[in-house]
Amino acid sequence: MPVEKDTAFFSVSGLAKHFGGIHAVEGLSFALARGEIVGLIGPNGSGKTTTINMVTGALKPDGGAILVEGIDMARSPANLFARRGVARTFQVPRLFRRMTVLENLIVPALSDPAERRAGAEERARGVLAFLRLDHLADSYARALSGGQQKLLELGRALMLKPRLLLLDEPFAGVHPRLLEEIIEHIRSLNRDGHTIVVVDHNLEAIQSVVTRVMVMARGRKIADGAVAEVLRNPEVVHAYTGSRATHREAR
Ligand SMILES: Nc1ncnc2c1ncn2[C@@H]1O[C@H](COP(=O)(O)OP(=O)(O)OP(=O)(O)O)[C@@H](O)[C@H]1O
Ligand SMILES: [Mg+2]
Repeated sequence: MPVEKDTAFFSVSGLAKHFGGIHAVEGLSFALARGEIVGLIGPNGSGKTTTINMVTGALKPDGGAILVEGIDMARSPANLFARRGVARTFQVPRLFRRMTVLENLIVPALSDPAERRAGAEERARGVLAFLRLDHLADSYARALSGGQQKLLELGRALMLKPRLLLLDEPFAGVHPRLLEEIIEHIRSLNRDGHTIVVVDHNLEAIQSVVTRVMVMARGRKIADGAVAEVLRNPEVVHAYTGSRATHREAR
């Protein structure tokens, strides 16, 4: 029997964030079904990271609603989002560079007062095994390659036992061999029931993990649907070709 699409899991409507005169995000609405995996793309500065910041409680929206299972969390602090199973990774990994890989995983888990250190360490070792980073458990985070840092960043989010994972550029600056591995991990997390939003500029990698993609340009959503269709959309093509020069500069 087909599972009914549960769009009540997560949605935003009319979301807005302004920085002075810049409309970083304007009138953004979308819904995610439980277990869905969706790409969020758009030229540099189109509002993708600002969106992630708002839907994880790191930035308070200037307007709009963020519904997690029907409850509006637009005014809630970041720790409440984490408690309700919303976790993210950062575009630039935010690791504790002078701590070991294992410690980097244990620290976020200990923000939950119910978690004991022994339990956190056991879970951290499980996460390391899943990410195939176990051989690096005692290495300093600063010694990791760019791709390994992205993996550890993902591991830190997994320690929060998320149901919704927002990944901000998980493929950027990653060696092609590790890229395949990261793609495989994302697929596997989705198969295990995680709802996932993947933000990235690597459209080929995005297409290999999602079937639906949303496109932002200048703070607004300009397309949302099946990948092939969306990438043919003239407005999307225009948004990308019109900004290609800026994109190259930013790389
Ligand atoms: N803290 C801030 N203060 C002022 N302006 C900001 C701030 N954060 C973002 N902006 C601006 O808001 C707009 C959206 O930025 P955002 O980082 O969300 O874009 P993005 O789509 O993630 O871009 P990229 O692909 O380069 O990561 C940009 O014009 C950016 O300069
Ligand atoms: Mg960004």
